[in-house]
Amino acid sequence: MQNNDPTYNPLEDIDQIIVTEAAIQARLIELGKEINEAYEERDVAVIAIINGAIIFVADLIRQLNISMKLDCIRIANYRDEKSMQKPEIIDKIRLDLKGLDVLIIDDILDSGRTLSHVTEIFKTMQPASLKTCVLLDKKTTRSVDFEADFVGFRIPDEFVVGYGLDFAERYRQLPCIGVLRPELQNPPEWS
Ligand code: IMP
Ligand code: MG
Repeated sequence: MQNNDPTYNPLEDIDQIIVTEAAIQARLIELGKEINEAYEERDVAVIAIINGAIIFVADLIRQLNISMKLDCIRIANYRDEKSMQKPEIIDKIRLDLKGLDVLIIDDILDSGRTLSHVTEIFKTMQPASLKTCVLLDKKTTRSVDFEADFVGFRIPDEFVVGYGLDFAERYRQLPCIGVLRPELQNPPEWS
């Protein structure tokens, strides 16, 4: 990547496209229908886990014709002394979830730690129900037992970027999801 190159196109940094823009757009419509049917006549609190879910949530909620409120939480992942990933909520939600049907949305389900941590915390807020939706599911990488209720695509165990997913906060703007060229996966100038 060239910071000052006017011809720079982030798509050129992608080695392999895993989910095309057209496939994402088509799946959004189907997912929207699934969610509309699941929450007919309910009052839903959609909670986006940012930054990763920003693009997905923005597009998905425009497919929803249910009564809903939107809020966001921000998670940081720390490594503990045993190098275990420890998610922590660093920006809290403002909504009172009591009595609401809560739908938590994230970009990707990988180890499962983020969503299992967030759902455990939200359960204590007495929502009427609690479900989760992810754009991507890396089924083979789970370290805690967790499944999402709504899944966009199941993908192989590759580090992917685009459509909200980042590498060092970059590539979120790509309209598709893909794997970076190998030489870009750990460039020292980006850390
Ligand atoms: P978890 O491992 O299920 O807790 O997922 C934690 C977070 O890791 C996700 O919300 C993503 O932000 C990030 N993540 C996991 N896999 C990928 C990937 O392939 N690309 C970009 N971010 C990822
Ligand atoms: Mg991320």
